[in-house]
Amino acid sequence: MKRRPLIAGNWKMHKTVNEALAYIEAFKPLVADVSDRDIMLAPSFIALDACEKSLEGSNVALGAQNCHWEDEGAFTGEVSPRMLADVGVTYVILGHSERRHLFGETDEMVRRKIEAVLRHQMIPILCIGETLEEREAGKTLAVLERQLKEGLKGFSAGELKDLVVAYEPVWAIGTGKTASPEQAQEAHAFVRKLLSEMFDEAFAEKTRILYGGSVKPENIVGLMARPDIDGALVGGASLNPDTFARIVRFGRME
Ligand code: PGA
Repeated sequence: MKRRPLIAGNWKMHKTVNEALAYIEAFKPLVADVSDRDIMLAPSFIALDACEKSLEGSNVALGAQNCHWEDEGAFTGEVSPRMLADVGVTYVILGHSERRHLFGETDEMVRRKIEAVLRHQMIPILCIGETLEEREAGKTLAVLERQLKEGLKGFSAGELKDLVVAYEPVWAIGTGKTASPEQAQEAHAFVRKLLSEMFDEAFAEKTRILYGGSVKPENIVGLMARPDIDGALVGGASLNPDTFARIVRFGRME
């Protein structure tokens, strides 16, 4: 089955509101004619509202980089899924390795966040991936299995119908070291097999699995040629509109 590609940009803690708006004005015309794939940008929380207005009517969807699991309450410094839905967010990146490793997010927290995002009709992008230490210890598949099963525990295939999974080997994030297309394909095929066992084959076949970790215009074509790689979650190379547009436009004649 041919899944519609999703190319998603994660700006992390970069860009002021004005910088975000200037980027969007430059970026929109570069991808305006692209209709055979989905495009997403995830700015910082404080830029979401302005970006939503600037993206309105375009083919670029708005994403958030995280959210809390409660709709409101005494959680100083947190942003709720209700607030994200209110400003027009479509996708929410959850369980990014920086959240897990720098801010102590557990699989259970990620599961609760997925539930919260679904409650507000947004689309979760569940990030999973092994560290270098785990890979070298031969634990890659066990880590992916744990993160996937714990993160998706208790949900039905119907509830997760738009779920996106992102395989992001931690050792490839921001390091310039991309997983080879073979390494990524092996992990993606394993994740798809797990989804088929956890839910059913139709669900596994339609669920998009993105690759993330040092994706660039130079390596996107090789990655996207693999059967189970359905798109990319791009950090560093999404910060420049020309570079990100080249990634979005992979495989097209200029
Ligand atoms: P990178 O980040 O493209 O800068 O490696 C990817 C990510 O963290 O999503």
